[in-house]
Amino acid sequence: MINIDRRAFISFLGGSAAVAGMGCEARADALETYLTAAMTGAAVAGTTPAPTVAELEAQIPTRSYRRGVGNGLVNKDGGNVTLLPPLPAKPTLADFIRLRLQSNAEHCLQSARQARLKNMDEDIVFACLVHDLSLSLMRAEHGFWSAQMFEPYVSAKVTFAIRHHATLRFFPDQEHGYAYPELYRTMFGTDYVPPPHQQAEYQMVRRHRWYMAPRLVTVNDLYSFEPGVRVAVDEFDDVIGRHFRQPKQGLGFDGSPVAHIWRTAANPDSPL
Ligand SMILES: [Fe+2]
Ligand SMILES: [Fe+2]
Repeated sequence: MINIDRRAFISFLGGSAAVAGMGCEARADALETYLTAAMTGAAVAGTTPAPTVAELEAQIPTRSYRRGVGNGLVNKDGGNVTLLPPLPAKPTLADFIRLRLQSNAEHCLQSARQARLKNMDEDIVFACLVHDLSLSLMRAEHGFWSAQMFEPYVSAKVTFAIRHHATLRFFPDQEHGYAYPELYRTMFGTDYVPPPHQQAEYQMVRRHRWYMAPRLVTVNDLYSFEPGVRVAVDEFDDVIGRHFRQPKQGLGFDGSPVAHIWRTAANPDSPL
């Protein structure tokens, strides 16, 4: 277990006001960066410049896990994981959000709430609600993992929005109010350039008639939220009902090509 100097960590994040404006995902990522810096002896108190790609790569062998591992599968602060509460026999999407895909559920709920407050189309609100849920299982390629989990149960446009939001995060669109996230300079390196396949994906999506679907997910994909406001899944029962084809056998038990992903999320402690 690593002891965290709370004051130094808050300073590292830019002060308590900055912390209050960060969501869980941002805090988790910042904590990971902070701990890595602390473990490798780098200066972290307030003045640490964002790392380069090479510096981030040099940190890889300093960890006991790969950066792409799901947030729900490893306790990145060095502590233990917890026992998971039981799921109902026929679990619904809301059950998974409440009881399993927790690590990024709050961020997703806040994003969906923002989209709804801006009167965005309901399918965009739904896409925001689920766009990062796969991060509990896998961080690498999370847009594609999330889209795959949801594809049998949602519209093609919602799948498109979920699949491509992750790549659009690297490409600013001032016209629609999306700037490159400062946090990405810390997470990916100050000199990071998305690889050719992602550049090609961006070009395809930019010309697609559904471009605005994943773009609006990124516009709501902010880390800010109203401090102290918690968003309950129930707030979106109606949206889920209209945009998610809940299998009557329960997620994981409907024989779909992605049922195993839901079963993995249901029981991540299974040894095989
Ligand atoms: Fe995402
Ligand atoms: Fe997100």
